[in-house]
Amino acid sequence: MLIHARNVLSPAELQRIRALLDAADWADGRITAGTQSAQVKRNQQLPETAAQIGEARAIVRAALARNAQFFSAALPREIYPPLFNRYEGGQHFGNHVDNAVRLLPDGSRHLRTDVSATLFLTEPGSYDGGELVIDDTYGEQRVKFAAGDMVVYPSTSLHRVEPVTRGARVSCFMWIQSMVREDAKRALLHEMDLAIATLRAEHGDTEAVISLTGNYHNLLRMWAEL
Ligand code: NI
Repeated sequence: MLIHARNVLSPAELQRIRALLDAADWADGRITAGTQSAQVKRNQQLPETAAQIGEARAIVRAALARNAQFFSAALPREIYPPLFNRYEGGQHFGNHVDNAVRLLPDGSRHLRTDVSATLFLTEPGSYDGGELVIDDTYGEQRVKFAAGDMVVYPSTSLHRVEPVTRGARVSCFMWIQSMVREDAKRALLHEMDLAIATLRAEHGDTEAVISLTGNYHNLLRMWAEL
């Protein structure tokens, strides 16, 4: 399941993050890559030591916390502290699958990556290339969204970022450990949640809507790992 979440950041938040990132010193993107992905990763990343990373992360975390579409699709249990990257001058990231388990930046414990997300921070017209290409169940998806929009997809997917041949592509990316590990179960719950919301809007809280809402919660109760 691939989700397009629109306007995740407000224009003011987007502007603030861009100002923070424009002032930052970037590092080689291979600092967080695994052995296979380090071979194919050519980009820049904001290091943990960057003065701007705390505020930029807080803006993204607050935006995710208020986003009902993201919650319904990802059912987040824990979000890896958001990371920021930049591609320019032909930089790209070849085909890879994200590491299944990641150590948190503070080294305290591990997080399983069930869901991946990229939040776009530069307008698509300001750079050429840089599409995020994701192998989905239904074929290859080429993603290049408006600044402030986000793509959410299963971490099990093979994906790449095409070379950026003009301008710079700046984005935020993150991994989520979900309460529901399997993509098929998350997709079913998300579709059910959307259908219930539509029914409720059209007919109000009828007996059937209340019953289906109960079914949703009982399925989530059956599948959630906390
Ligand atoms: Ni990746």
